[in-house]
Amino acid sequence: MINNQKNKFFVGAFMSLLVIVSIAAISPNTPPKNLKVLPKNISHDSLEYLMRFYNVSLKVKCGYCHAKGSKESDVNPLKDVTRKMILMTDEMNAKYLKTIVHQPSDSTALQLVTCNTCHRGEAKPVVPMIKISKEEHKELKEEHKD
Ligand code: HEC
Ligand code: HEC
Repeated sequence: MINNQKNKFFVGAFMSLLVIVSIAAISPNTPPKNLKVLPKNISHDSLEYLMRFYNVSLKVKCGYCHAKGSKESDVNPLKDVTRKMILMTDEMNAKYLKTIVHQPSDSTALQLVTCNTCHRGEAKPVVPMIKISKEEHKELKEEHKD
């Protein structure tokens, strides 16, 4: 289903562990006409996988970003917001994360940012509250002294 490894871009798809029930949502016979940031020669499977990944990362349906009846239309402004998000995610990975040098023993090498890193099932990312007890807080402060 996925052959993103062959592609140079990994937008939001790489290393995700999502298993999504597959019912073809994009017709293989109609090549995309209005791609401005994704590679124009993207395979049908990769495009479909990415779009489903967006659905799941933001917990929205296709229609959240797409106009009714036309996937290539740009009337929904969230399509352009998403384009910025794709560019931002790519830049974070290419410019910063991929340049981090890891020890050979570091099994966490190559951790990439995906849509889900921030969105986690919300269309607008929610910054989580950190629950910390008075004791833990005190401990952290003490650690800071030495
Ligand atoms: C979070 C927003 C978002 C969601 C959700 C989303 N898409 Fe997209 N989709 C986009 C963006 C942005 C583009 C254009 C990418 C570009 O310009 O390179 C696009 C492009 C497409 C295209 C290519 C259209 C063309 O002719 O250029 C198809 C087909 C498509 N999406 C189908 C879907 C389907 C089917 C779903 C649901 C399974 C879906 N999308 C969910 C944002 C989204
Ligand atoms: C570094 C964190 C981060 C990453 C990575 C990220 N986003 Fe976002 N996204 C945000 C924040 C923060 C906002 C809210 C921006 C605002 O409204 O000012 C947002 C807003 C959005 C919105 C608009 C939602 C609305 O209802 O207004 C869409 C759509 C979206 N992101 C899609 C994506 C997609 C798709 C990806 C992956 C390609 C992605 N984002 C990656 C942080 C992120």
